[in-house]
Amino acid sequence: MGSLRQNEGVLAYNLDHVGIAVRDLEAALEAYRHRYGIEPSHREVVESQGVEEALLPLGGSFIQLLLPLTPESPVGRFLEQRGEGLHHVAYAVLDLEESLAHLRQAGARLIDEVPRFGGRGARIAFVHPADLAGTLIELVEPAS
Ligand code: CO
Repeated sequence: MGSLRQNEGVLAYNLDHVGIAVRDLEAALEAYRHRYGIEPSHREVVESQGVEEALLPLGGSFIQLLLPLTPESPVGRFLEQRGEGLHHVAYAVLDLEESLAHLRQAGARLIDEVPRFGGRGARIAFVHPADLAGTLIELVEPAS
């Protein structure tokens, strides 16, 4: 698609969302509503990710609250080991295959070699936190 060239060599063009793991989604939503005046614009159970997620719009990006569906899911294990808090940051990309190919070539440690589906019908892939500053990075190609 030549999207990287269109994007002048910059892989990610936007901060899509910041993912935060929570134990009580309703309480977290109420706290965001009460303290920051932000209402969720989207809620979805994403079985493939093992989460229920709520998106809170903030400018052109979102806060993504993540409630694990089971303790054995990745976010469930995260909560058990680390407690509530910042889980990942997600960068919007134009062409996920091209981004993954670029990252592979650049030596990044990919969790997902091929894209999978996340919430909102978006295609996503994760990059391992050991790859860069302990940060789990999600790449998101938003559904058009
Ligand atoms: Co996410």
